[in-house]
Amino acid sequence: MITALRNFMGWIDDRLPVTETYEKHMSKYYAPKNLNIWYLFGVLGFVVLINQLLTGIWLTMSYVPTGEAAFASVEYIMRDVDYGWLLRYMHSTGASAFFVVVYLHMFRGLMYGSYQKPRELIWILGMLIYVALMAEGFFGYLLPWGNMSFWGAQVIVSLAGAIPIVGEDLAIWVRGDFNMSGVTLNRFFALHVVLVPLVLLVLVVLHILALHEVGSNNPDGVDVKKHLDAEGRPLDSVPFHPYHTIGHDLSAIVVFLFIFCAVLFFYPDGGGYLIEHPNYEPADPLKTPELIAPVWYYTPFYSMLRAATFPLFGLDAKFWGLVVMAGAIALPFVLPWLDRSPVRSMRYKGRPSKVFLVLFVIAFFILGYLGTVHPTPLKTLIAQVCTGIYFAYFLLMPWYTSVEMTKPVPDRVTTG
Ligand code: HEM
Repeated sequence: MITALRNFMGWIDDRLPVTETYEKHMSKYYAPKNLNIWYLFGVLGFVVLINQLLTGIWLTMSYVPTGEAAFASVEYIMRDVDYGWLLRYMHSTGASAFFVVVYLHMFRGLMYGSYQKPRELIWILGMLIYVALMAEGFFGYLLPWGNMSFWGAQVIVSLAGAIPIVGEDLAIWVRGDFNMSGVTLNRFFALHVVLVPLVLLVLVVLHILALHEVGSNNPDGVDVKKHLDAEGRPLDSVPFHPYHTIGHDLSAIVVFLFIFCAVLFFYPDGGGYLIEHPNYEPADPLKTPELIAPVWYYTPFYSMLRAATFPLFGLDAKFWGLVVMAGAIALPFVLPWLDRSPVRSMRYKGRPSKVFLVLFVIAFFILGYLGTVHPTPLKTLIAQVCTGIYFAYFLLMPWYTSVEMTKPVPDRVTTG
């Protein structure tokens, strides 16, 4: 039996490098032995991605992407399709879980300088994943054709109208109509279920290939490839499988699934943060919700958009809001070239880096909160200050990372 299996694998391997690929990326891929809890969110990213793809496929079987039937088809899924409610909540909770996991994964990158040489491309591919994810969430949010779906998309698409000369035409081109309509819903459906998932999958594969080319960073930010054993294996690393897969990742997945199921079964609308209350009503062009706010994962950027309140150079505030928001998403792309520090990890960076990172996180949370509530003059002022901190974190980085005192980095990893 075993010989037959071995012969079969040999036959496959002569034609397709299955064993070689498995060894290269799993059993003979060496990852630092001191990877900590912050290194679990990459694999959890995979888990939520697979959850979204599978539940999405099943939802598509019963969903009808037309202006007339979309809302009712979601109600049908919730009430009549066997386990339809479970599929829908797994998908809607999964969307939020995706962003929680990705934000924590990105924060780890900021903390340990994972974007620094030679991992610039891993970071840039990650940022492209993040932008694709934002687009995926945005297109998907329109599909239930609830009142917040309608008005949220209306606000965001009509923002394009603030761009001089081409803006109005661009908004009509995106909508495919003079107003949000079934035509818009139909094209968002195509983008949500075909184009963006394909782009995401390709990007994730490239992200991992780029990671496996240079190897993982670690909480000390030391180069583990400097110390090798007689056979050329890094002394401070262990094979990814089984040590990281069984040792760490599997337990992380179990804990994650417990938390995910707790939200899914006991708090699926998250008090209006995961599924917003106006979305329980069908889209109505004549009834604007009292407060139009995007889902929580976009609200920091929504706050920055609203923080621009005055016209400049003859262009109105809405245009500058758009510029600020686009700038806030574009800046992290060039992070690898903003950080001039000779060390990677926050453990060995100086106080200014630490203070700026803490301020950045606090500002991001405050902006996130402010994006969920009605603006007042005071709240707008706070949003402006926090937007300033967000930009200062990036724009002042070349300065504070080059003048600060760093601690000496050890030659080998310190834990694990
Ligand atoms: C679908 C979303 C994503 C998936 C499935 C994913 C997957 C992974 C995996 C499995 C790893 C190795 C394990 C780990 O370090 O946690 C990793 C590393 C990394 N990812 Fe992602 N990732 C995603 C999104 C992102 C995003 C949005 C960014 C940043 C903008 C990013 C930046 C990085 C970096 C810099 C590393 C190397 C970290 C290090 O070695 O210290 N990833 N990713």
